[in-house]
Amino acid sequence: MLQISSKPPKKAILVLFSKANLNILPFFDIEEKKTIQNKLNDGMQIISYNKMQKNYFLIPMEIDATKKEDSVHEKLRIQGNSIFKTFKEHKETEVSVEVLGDISKEHLASLLLGISLSEYEFLKYRTKPKAYSLTIFIDALLLDEATVNELNLITESVRITKDLVNEPVSFLTAAQYSKEIQKIGEAAGFSVIVLDQKEIEAEQMGGVIAVNQGSSAPATFNILEYKPKKHLNEAPLVLVGKGVVFDTGGLSLKPTRNSMDMMKSDMAGSAAVVGAMYAIAKSKLPYHVIGLIPAVENRPGYEAVCPGDVITMYDGTTVEVLDTDAEGRLILADALHYAKRYNPELVLDFATLTGAALRAIGKEAGVVMGNAEKSIKKKIKRAANSTGERVVELPLWDEYGDYMKSDIADLKNLGPMDAGAITAGKFLEHFVDYPWMHFDIAGPAYVASNYNYRGKWSTAYGVRLLFKFVQNQCKDVSTKTEN
Ligand code: BES
Ligand code: ZN
Ligand code: ZN
Repeated sequence: MLQISSKPPKKAILVLFSKANLNILPFFDIEEKKTIQNKLNDGMQIISYNKMQKNYFLIPMEIDATKKEDSVHEKLRIQGNSIFKTFKEHKETEVSVEVLGDISKEHLASLLLGISLSEYEFLKYRTKPKAYSLTIFIDALLLDEATVNELNLITESVRITKDLVNEPVSFLTAAQYSKEIQKIGEAAGFSVIVLDQKEIEAEQMGGVIAVNQGSSAPATFNILEYKPKKHLNEAPLVLVGKGVVFDTGGLSLKPTRNSMDMMKSDMAGSAAVVGAMYAIAKSKLPYHVIGLIPAVENRPGYEAVCPGDVITMYDGTTVEVLDTDAEGRLILADALHYAKRYNPELVLDFATLTGAALRAIGKEAGVVMGNAEKSIKKKIKRAANSTGERVVELPLWDEYGDYMKSDIADLKNLGPMDAGAITAGKFLEHFVDYPWMHFDIAGPAYVASNYNYRGKWSTAYGVRLLFKFVQNQCKDVSTKTEN
């Protein structure tokens, strides 16, 4: 956590200084500076030095002016992670910050965000949790209170998403997920309406019903809404998230290792929507945002959909279900149809949708595609690059549409072996009639081992990106109306 403080420095002090000028370190004599210089020459990134009962952590800052600004910020967040690890090793719980030399507020903020995001651990199921927590004290002259609050809010929103994703299905059933979303909505100031299994059936949401059919737990359909009195957008922004609380594959059963054993994370897209809406509502952004989350459990069972079954979707389209493991597109399609009633300015969907997206790009980026105009795509890329949650765009050419035609029904849910991420997107495209972008986050959402400040397991991919996107929208719209 970061805290504004003008009090005298703590026992541990983080000192950021320019490598080029050691003379700006006032606490050290000539001999000590020589030792420090030698360590710098050896390439040490963090020099810890104990002097007069203070623990100094000296960080030589090297901002590479030839690099793109976005990648400088990502490097700073990663550097923040290394600094965090050092504090943890030294069991420092309270650290003050000193800045010597010229480091911009924006750069300082990214470094501190990297430190603060690194603190996350999922300890709920440890009987003897070894919680380590760190507070960084910073003078208001170095970083204004609003920035510090925003960094803390981002960290908290990411934690909310990670906690949801890391929860196993033994706790986080669809019904429990809805309860958690309601609690989060109350804390943040957005409303939540939950349609239960009966209401889903009355609505005839055929995709949602079909995917949950093998489960003995009921499905839910969650409608989140944040509508501040003053909002800059005429039509709402709708965020749709895949909420498969567990994906066994259904009768098209997944193998266990490195596959089904990760599938408690198949609601990561929807958890990113929840975390982003928390950040947006908590910071009272003047923007109307709606979240739609179909929550289901994909299981085999006597009642389960069989490969070859034909189902009727919420919008009336018939679909031949050839592979019950291609379930995400079925629930998303119903939610995308539901979104039409809002006449949205834009719909963004987030989903751990295909292994193909993961194989194409790994954990380094999300795969995006959609029909939104160029200016929107540009804004998405701008937000994605600035938070380090990068995206790569794939095409939705007409030709791919033919891949999803069925002999027996309007569509089938399984394409050929090739272009799996695109054909999934193509399937979704059938259900939209508004500006729309689809984020396949199967690669970056969940990782088996530590991934810098993102940690291991859930990375909360999408939360910071969406928050940044809406922040930018607010700035863009308000400058437009001023002109
Ligand atoms: N939830 C999976 C996709 C996934 C795979 C997410 C790996 C995260 C990591 C999805 O429901 C799925 O199983 N997709 C199938 C679709 C195929 C049958 C067309 C896939 O990608 O294999
Ligand atoms: Zn699946
Ligand atoms: Zn899935």
